[in-house]
Amino acid sequence: MEMLLEAGDEDGLERLIREKLARKERIMGFGHRVYMRRMDPRAQLLKETLAALVAQKGDPEGEKLVRMCQRGEDVMRAEKGLFPNLDYYAAPVYWVLGIPIELYTPIFFAARTAGLVAHVVEQHAHNRLFRPRVLYTGPRGLKP
Ligand SMILES: CC(C)(COP(=O)(O)OP(=O)(O)OC[C@H]1O[C@@H](n2cnc3c(N)ncnc32)[C@H](O)[C@@H]1OP(=O)(O)O)[C@@H](O)C(=O)NCCC(=O)NCCS
Repeated sequence: MEMLLEAGDEDGLERLIREKLARKERIMGFGHRVYMRRMDPRAQLLKETLAALVAQKGDPEGEKLVRMCQRGEDVMRAEKGLFPNLDYYAAPVYWVLGIPIELYTPIFFAARTAGLVAHVVEQHAHNRLFRPRVLYTGPRGLKP
């Protein structure tokens, strides 16, 4: 989010990204150990959420954010073949919702606590090592 604010608009973001890449710096919000060569499905969902929220609010600043994010995505795909990760679209969603930047990481992490606690409980029940890439076996396709 700080990068988007620093950039100001879509041309500014493209410039910033190109400058950083020329200096061999990493661009925040891109790359992922697992989803390196395709879009993280959670990022895609948040991208759609951002567009829907902005349309609902009719907010011109939000519309600019949508255009900026798309430009950044296009530049990174063309230059590095990298796709946005979850954080790239979570940040502007939180911003449009009016959440202070310093709360972004705690909010993201709060959603993880149920899963982390479940792992602790499972570990206690069957004290054997298990791998971090778990296989989901629960119900699918549930409506919110
Ligand atoms: C998430 C992350 C740590 C995954 O790293 P990784 O799986 O170890 O991937 P690597 O560090 O091996 O990178 C592979 C290549 O992609 C490049 N790359 C990866 N992420 C990049 C990024 N965000 N910007 C520019 N280049 C990137 C690396 O420079 C490397 O290129 P090289 O082979 O020419 O050296 C990494 O993508 C990153 O630092 N992203 C930016 C920070 C970020 O968004 N963090 C939040 C993620 S939850």
